[in-house]
Formats: sequence, structure tokens, C-alpha cells
Amino acid sequence: MNNKLIHSNVTIGENGHLHFAGMDTVALAKEYGTPAILIDEERIRSRCREYKSAMKTYFGGASMPLFASKSLSFKGIYRIIADEDMGTDIVSSGELFTAVSAGFPMERAFFHGNNKTDADIAYAIENGIGYFVVDGFEELDAIDRIAGEKGIRQKILLRITPGIDPHTHQKISTGGVDSKFGSAIETGLASRITKAALSKLNIDLRGFHCHIGSQIFEIDPYTLAADIMLKFIADMRDEYGFTAEILNIGGGFGVRYVESDGEINITENIKNIAAHMTAACEKFGLTMPTILMEPGRSIVADAGMTLYTVGSVKEIEGFKNYVSIDGGMTDNPRYTLYQSAYTLLLANRAKETADFACTVGGRCCESGDLIQENVMIPRPARGDILAVLVTGAYNYSMASNYNRVTRPPIVLLKDGESRLAVRRERFEDLIACDI
Ligand code: LLP
Repeated sequence: MNNKLIHSNVTIGENGHLHFAGMDTVALAKEYGTPAILIDEERIRSRCREYKSAMKTYFGGASMPLFASKSLSFKGIYRIIADEDMGTDIVSSGELFTAVSAGFPMERAFFHGNNKTDADIAYAIENGIGYFVVDGFEELDAIDRIAGEKGIRQKILLRITPGIDPHTHQKISTGGVDSKFGSAIETGLASRITKAALSKLNIDLRGFHCHIGSQIFEIDPYTLAADIMLKFIADMRDEYGFTAEILNIGGGFGVRYVESDGEINITENIKNIAAHMTAACEKFGLTMPTILMEPGRSIVADAGMTLYTVGSVKEIEGFKNYVSIDGGMTDNPRYTLYQSAYTLLLANRAKETADFACTVGGRCCESGDLIQENVMIPRPARGDILAVLVTGAYNYSMASNYNRVTRPPIVLLKDGESRLAVRRERFEDLIACDI
């Protein structure tokens, strides 16, 4: 067994081709062209079920996962999430529009973001948004005003910063006091905004939210955050007589990108966090609130694989070897942004020895447009198919048209069949807004 396959939906067929979700990726590359993003639908569904069942078992009540759709947003994903009876977290009117277009039940949608405009708020209310996760005072005032104009009382959660460091990349860490998100407990702001929310006529405060960061493998940051949040709930009960019925503990579970990464057992993690929270609730004299979580990466990351075609292979003697592919930072900016590690395999020669050290670069006029440095693959030739594993999260959703490169399609794989869920962008799409 090739250890670099790293997830059970990645296998090698008898023909030596890389298979994904049981399908020959070389044949898929031929059918759909490259670059192309393959998405294993069953993997997404099974992760959704795992979260749902673990949360129901260990948190009880109406607890449920909300899919953080910033990790992967297109109409089809909202249909899958709705079908799995989950909620979703959205962070922009664009994501909201996509969810509405897919027929997502908006009462199960939570609108996040540190700077929602009046237009965002009005648009979300018009579309029956379930909850706003309110980031600060200005937003609270704006929602109160706009809800009043529309004659409704709007349900909200308040985003609170518990003030902890989750030991992840600085750019994806969000729980610290100095974060641009939420209101910090430590500075007294969290208490003041709770008081303000309770005084608003058109605001229906249901509870609190926190999110400490992303790609977190340890459990301690969660139990620490939960302790702080439950104590805050108890304090708000004591100070204002308000008992939060909902506590949203955010997303962030880590995912295995390369062989050396660990793998989180979602059910075990939830079980351990829940046990800790049950004890904390007892300590503070609280009944367990309805717990919400917002997993994004851990639902879709390993359900994705990107296929590229190799173009040039440049050997700079005494320095390094470059392999260029027909995509890059435009469909996966994560190495450029965070030096994220990925596993790369040659899909059409998956059984061959990986003895060629290289840097894989994209096609943009930008030296930083790299997918990975110093990786080992068989020495590739023009026309070979290169697969990058675990690209389901924060790839398509972070894609751009830099250099007017068109965005790849999304191909859904299920039960041995493939279908186009997002078509490849055409050149006409690139000038659709140009006047
Ligand atoms: N909830 C909130 C409020 C968030 O800000 C995020 C992620 C999530 C949930 C989902 O977290 P997850 O389960 O996916 O870790 N672009 C970066 C990741 C940014 C994460 C932003 N917030 C990356 O490519 O690694």
C-alpha cells in the first residue's frame, strides 16, 4: 500500500491509475479536461452524518452541525447539506444568494461576518435568514433598525472572543482578544454588548458564538474555550437574568493533508468535548445549552481532489526542478498564502517510484504561484496527469481569475458515476462584467 494515498477514498486501480471514490481519475481528466476539481459526494455525506450523530448522542437536544460554506460554496453543496438536515453558516450576501438559489431552508442559515452592510442585513432578512451572528455594536443597531422597518423580531447570537490561542497558523486563528472578530470577554465588551442586545426591541438574543481558529488538532483549545464560554453564560445569567439557550462553539477540526499529519476522530473529539462541557455545566449550575458547531474543512477537505495536466518540466542543474501545471494559485492559493502542505501523485503512473524531487508551479506570471515545493513524484512528462489530494476545502471557494485564468469545474462523484456540478468558466464569463 502506498502510504501517500492518506485517505480511504484514494486507491490505485489495476491499470496503475489513481482512483478517487472508486473512479479512474485519468478517465475523468479525459472526460472533463483539466484542471478539474473532483468531489466525492458520499464522503461529504458520511462526514455530515458523523457530526450529526455524534452531536445528537453527546450533546443531545436540538444540537446540530452547521456546514461552514466558506470552505466550499456552490449550489450543489447547499442541496447536499439541506438533504442531510443540517444548517449552514454563510458569510456574505453572495453565499446567501447561492444558498437561496439552491432552495436551502434559510431558517437554518446563520449569517456571519465582521462587517455586514445594511444591504447585507436587509437582503438576509428579506430571505428569511434564521440567525445573524452579530459581531459588534454597529451591526446590532443596524439589525435592530432594519428588523424594525420590516416589522420583525430578528433572532441573533453574539460572537464572543474567549481570548485563547489555538496553536494554528496565525492567519486562521480567531479566538484571541486582539482578533478582528467578535467582542472580547476580557475587556468587558462581551458583557456590554449582551446588555445592549437585551435592550433592543427588535432583537431576539438566543445565545453566543465563538470560533477559535481552523486546522486545529488538539482538543484542549476547545475545552478551554468551552469553559470560558460556559462561565460567561453563567455570568450573564447572574448579571442580567438572561440564560442563553444556544452555544455555538464554531468549527476548526484539523484535516490530514500529508502522511505526517494526524487524523482526528470526529466522534471521539465531540465525545470528549461534550464530557468536559457536561462537567462544566454542572459546576456553573447550567443545563447544557443547544450546542451548534460549524465544521467546514473537516466535512469537505478530503472529499476533494484536483487534477492538472503537466506542461513543462524544467531542470535547473545544481538548483531545483520545476514542474508546471495548467492551474495553480488561481484554483488553489493555499500554498502561496500559508505554505500549506499537500500530497501530490502522478495519476496516470500512480504505481511508479516517486524519485524526482521538484517544485510544482502554477501558470501565473508570479514566482510565488506554487502548489508545493520539494515534493517527490515520478519524473513527469508533458501530458501526465498530476493529482493534488485533499483540495475540497478552501480551494474552489478561494479561487480567483488572476491573469484572467478561468476557474475549473467541479465534478461530483457518487456511486461510480460522475456529473458536472459547476461547469468550467468560459472566456465569455471573464468579460461578463466588462462594459
Ligand atoms: N466558523 C467560523 C466563524 C469561521 O470563521 C470558520 C472558518 C469556520 C466556522 C470553519 O472552520 P473550519 O471547520 O473550516 O476550520 N482560508 C483558510 C481557512 C480560513 C478559515 C476561516 N474561518 C485556509 O485555507 O486554511
